[in-house]
Amino acid sequence: LTTPQDTQAQAELFVRLAADYDRSIRTYQPTYDAMLDLSTDLARVGAPGRSRCLDFGTGTGAALPRLGAMFDELVAIEPGHAMLELARARMADATTSPAVPPSFIEGTIDAPAAKALADASFDAVHCSLVLMFLAEDADKQRALEFFHRLLRPGGVVVLTELCTDADAAAERTTWAQWTSLMRHRGADDATVTAAEGQIHAAMHRRTPDQLRSFLERAGFGQVQQPFQALHTRIFVATR
Ligand SMILES: C[S@@+](CC[C@H](N)C(=O)[O-])C[C@H]1O[C@@H](n2cnc3c(N)ncnc32)[C@H](O)[C@@H]1O
Repeated sequence: LTTPQDTQAQAELFVRLAADYDRSIRTYQPTYDAMLDLSTDLARVGAPGRSRCLDFGTGTGAALPRLGAMFDELVAIEPGHAMLELARARMADATTSPAVPPSFIEGTIDAPAAKALADASFDAVHCSLVLMFLAEDADKQRALEFFHRLLRPGGVVVLTELCTDADAAAERTTWAQWTSLMRHRGADDATVTAAEGQIHAAMHRRTPDQLRSFLERAGFGQVQQPFQALHTRIFVATR
């Protein structure tokens, strides 16, 4: 399982990233806004009701105003204190908010407040660019089982993940396209090198087939992949 050193290194990474996250993610993820528009809409259209949505690993809360316009109640879970403070501030300013103020849980699935969330009490779980930071398959699996426990029957999980390609040549081509795109959009050599280093050091990507089988093992059905841009794919699965 993830060691305390891994957890510490990751916490430090997100303290460093927090202030600049909303700018830098748009360099690293050339389709970030389109992806968030799509993943949040997919959470809404797949959900059996509009009452309650969880944003897991909310970061600076970029998805929250979008989800807040479509669900009556939001819960956001995030272990990074600096990221969570930015998410709280974003929602304090947001023009689109849910009917009741979002509740924020600082921590992971193991936080007491996360454990206390009732079974089958959510219509949707939105989880964007998070599970790839969990090093071990067992931890990814536990997170998906946690989502499954929280969702009502028919509830939907929308998972956005950076993947690897099982085919090595396809993987190399995707990297080359991504690097060229970053340069074309103005990233200098240092930014490209830092981004590549971060992906290799901090992310634990899996193939789409591995993610599908984690979802199925957690009890989800109807696993679909409605979107792909370079390394990043969106999966939707139903409880
Ligand atoms: C790349 S950011 C994504 C933030 C946001 N969901 C988005 O799409 O912009 C990854 C986030 O996952 C959070 N994270 C890392 N490990 C986590 C865990 N075990 N449980 C929940 N969130 C975690 C990090 O703190 C970070 O804020």
